[in-house]
Amino acid sequence: MKDSNPATEPIGQNLIKLISNLCFSVFVFSVLIFTVIAITYQPPDPWLESAPALTKLFTESENATFQTDNSIINTGEDLASVLPPAASPNATATPITEAAIEKIENQITNSTLPQPDCEKVGFVNCSDPHVLIAVEKFNLKVFKSIAFLEYQTPVNGSKPDECDVAWRFRNKKEKSWRKYRDFRRFRFDVGENCTYKVVHSGGWHSGLNARRPRSRINATRAGGNPKVAPQIRDDEINDTIPSLGSEMNFRKGKYLYYSRGGDYCKGMNHYMWSFLCGLGEAMYLNRTFVMDLSMCLAATYNPSNKDEEGKDFRYYFDFEHLKETASVVEEGEFLRDWKKWNRSHKRKVPVKKVVSHKLTPLQLKKDKSTIIWRQFDAPEPENYWYRVCEGQAAKYIQRPWHALWKSKRLMNIVSEISGRMDWDFDAVHVVRGGKAQNKELWPHLDSDTSPDALLEKLKGMIQPWRNLYIATNEPYYNYFDKLRSNFKIHLLDDYKELWGNTSEWYNETSLLNDGKPVEFDGYMRVAVDTEVFYRAKTRVETFYNLTKDCKDGVNTC
Ligand SMILES: *[C@@H]1O[C@H](CO)[C@@H](O)[C@H](O)[C@H]1NC(C)=O
Ligand SMILES: *[C@@H]1O[C@H](CO)[C@@H](O)[C@H](O)[C@H]1NC(C)=O
Ligand SMILES: *[C@@H]1O[C@H](CO)[C@@H](O)[C@H](O)[C@H]1NC(C)=O
Ligand SMILES: *[C@@H]1O[C@H](CO)[C@@H](O)[C@H](O)[C@H]1NC(C)=O
Ligand SMILES: *[C@@H]1O[C@H](CO)[C@@H](O)[C@H](O)[C@H]1NC(C)=O
Ligand SMILES: *[C@@H]1O[C@H](CO)[C@@H](O)[C@H](O)[C@H]1NC(C)=O
Ligand SMILES: *[C@@H]1O[C@H](CO)[C@@H](O)[C@H](O)[C@H]1NC(C)=O
Ligand SMILES: *[C@@H]1O[C@H](CO)[C@@H](O)[C@H](O)[C@H]1NC(C)=O
Ligand SMILES: *[C@@H]1O[C@H](CO)[C@@H](O)[C@H](O)[C@H]1NC(C)=O
Ligand SMILES: *[C@@H]1O[C@H](CO)[C@@H](O)[C@H](O)[C@H]1NC(C)=O
Ligand SMILES: *[C@@H]1O[C@H](CO)[C@@H](O)[C@H](O)[C@H]1NC(C)=O
Ligand SMILES: *[C@@H]1O[C@H](CO)[C@@H](O)[C@H](O)[C@H]1NC(C)=O
Repeated sequence: MKDSNPATEPIGQNLIKLISNLCFSVFVFSVLIFTVIAITYQPPDPWLESAPALTKLFTESENATFQTDNSIINTGEDLASVLPPAASPNATATPITEAAIEKIENQITNSTLPQPDCEKVGFVNCSDPHVLIAVEKFNLKVFKSIAFLEYQTPVNGSKPDECDVAWRFRNKKEKSWRKYRDFRRFRFDVGENCTYKVVHSGGWHSGLNARRPRSRINATRAGGNPKVAPQIRDDEINDTIPSLGSEMNFRKGKYLYYSRGGDYCKGMNHYMWSFLCGLGEAMYLNRTFVMDLSMCLAATYNPSNKDEEGKDFRYYFDFEHLKETASVVEEGEFLRDWKKWNRSHKRKVPVKKVVSHKLTPLQLKKDKSTIIWRQFDAPEPENYWYRVCEGQAAKYIQRPWHALWKSKRLMNIVSEISGRMDWDFDAVHVVRGGKAQNKELWPHLDSDTSPDALLEKLKGMIQPWRNLYIATNEPYYNYFDKLRSNFKIHLLDDYKELWGNTSEWYNETSLLNDGKPVEFDGYMRVAVDTEVFYRAKTRVETFYNLTKDCKDGVNTC
């Protein structure tokens, strides 16, 4: 239950200014969120019941945006009860067990397969099934918190005594049923009685030969939308933008189109709250949601401290999962097909333009227009998308939280970090930033999270010399040095190369960005920190475990 409690403190330098006039409403709102999740933990929409309060918050303070904790970010995959089990036919994929391996081993041994050729020193035949068995056993022994789901036949590595092996896995802690893929390089030795033994295993994604060749789709598509990224598909992530195909397909569809409103450039939680409202309405109306993949990331998450436009949805969220879960079409594709239709047909496509959020989804239910176009041109806060879901609508529109997962590209970084600690680590979430500086609301936080206090507290909770991952918004890297006398400290910045210019993440995100490098921004940092924290064995929270200060300021707990 602790997992799914979105902590609720604002950080970020410019927020300190905001805090005085926002703190009360933030407090109201965060208490509500916490209460809803902690107590009910049932409804498919974890924030639903706080909607009236949220609306009040947004509409009362002129600059208010959705401010929750910027140091822990939950998405659909972190809210276990939100996942509809029916939607996961493969959730029950059976992990490979010791017993299963032995069974296969026996079958091989009893069959007439030639035994390994153990005369040749320093050579291993990668297609020999005994090789795979050796790897499977090795992995089971080393990675105890991983469920291994399926292996591919090993292939040659770079040397005669090496093989590259690929497999799919799931972390036993992960609440989504998403599978990840790893491929590593193994070095073997032939032991007694011609048994293969793994003597060395390479790191995450080191078995390059076992990686399936990428299928390159030549994608200068007709009409070439500059916003559409080059369609070079990762062998694992298929988040290309689907095209509608023919004009007839376009005409046959039914769409719900939200044009850009006041939500643009607001915080990411505001974005999610609004986006899921639109998507929820589309689901309710059985329509395809027209979505803009180009986002604006609010200043709080940007190192430049400015709002930045042109961020791809797919940097942050799992578009592949979204495509599978909901009916969506990318705005550029949609407009192009619409334009094409306009040019070649006298009869226009029926459009219903809706200019006020006060027209409810219920009233649109009977509308047969091909396109329902909600326009959000009113002054703030009348132009927020989520306002469609207020009032009566809240009773029948459900935000599809299960559709919104974190980007798999980010999750691969999470897997790598956890994997490098052999999935055997503890973690502490240290909230500092603006809260630590605000002595009025959090009088003890700063001292309770000082290096000396941390060391004393953690000594009582974490075994000495354990791997300790620190998820934090403290920007100063050396702040935690004192803890190194007792623990093996890991910080996000220790893994910089995972998003550096030689990384897979870098390659894959720049493909989404017309070949230009993508910055690893504050939101991505928090997303990764959050998920690594959730994979730890022992988890220490700031506000339950380190300080008696309340999460939302004095006298709120
Ligand atoms: C609110 O926004 C207005 C204009 O958008 C700005 O002038 C003002 O400084 C903002 N207030 C705060 C507290 O940031
Ligand atoms: C899910 O399982 C079915 C058969 O059980 C299989 O055909 C399908 O490819 C699997 N889907 C994924 C995404 O693994
Ligand atoms: C293989 O042979 C062993 C002993 O000869 C026997 O116990 C085992 O059941 C056999 N396994 C299979 C799968 O035939
Ligand atoms: C490698 O093993 C496979 C399967 O046991 C066998 O078919 C193949 O002939 C072997 N290759 C070499 C070079 O030994
Ligand atoms: C793997 O290596 C062996 C020996 O070096 C060679 O005989 C075999 O053809 C290689 N297999 C592939 C698929 O390249
Ligand atoms: C090798 O085989 C012999 C007899 O077949 C057996 O006694 C011995 O334990 C085996 N050694 C290993 C390491 O399996
Ligand atoms: C894509 O197609 C164009 C023309 O159809 C061709 O000139 C270009 O080389 C192709 N690119 C790739 C990567 O195949
Ligand atoms: C990728 O997903 C689209 C649907 O969004 C599907 O049509 C396409 O076949 C998929 N490509 C691969 C390689 O799986
Ligand atoms: C959407 O489809 C479902 C089942 O197909 C149906 O029960 C529901 O009434 C439809 N909703 C609308 C608004 O057409
Ligand atoms: C298509 O024509 C309609 C009616 O003239 C217009 O409202 C709409 O904006 C046009 N669509 C595009 C994409 O130009
Ligand atoms: C990234 O792309 C470059 C150039 O295409 C390639 O040489 C490099 O191996 C790639 N790195 C990774 C980690 O995939
Ligand atoms: C942190 O506090 C919670 C709530 O009081 C408690 O359940 C948990 O065991 C504590 N964690 C540690 C590591 O002490």
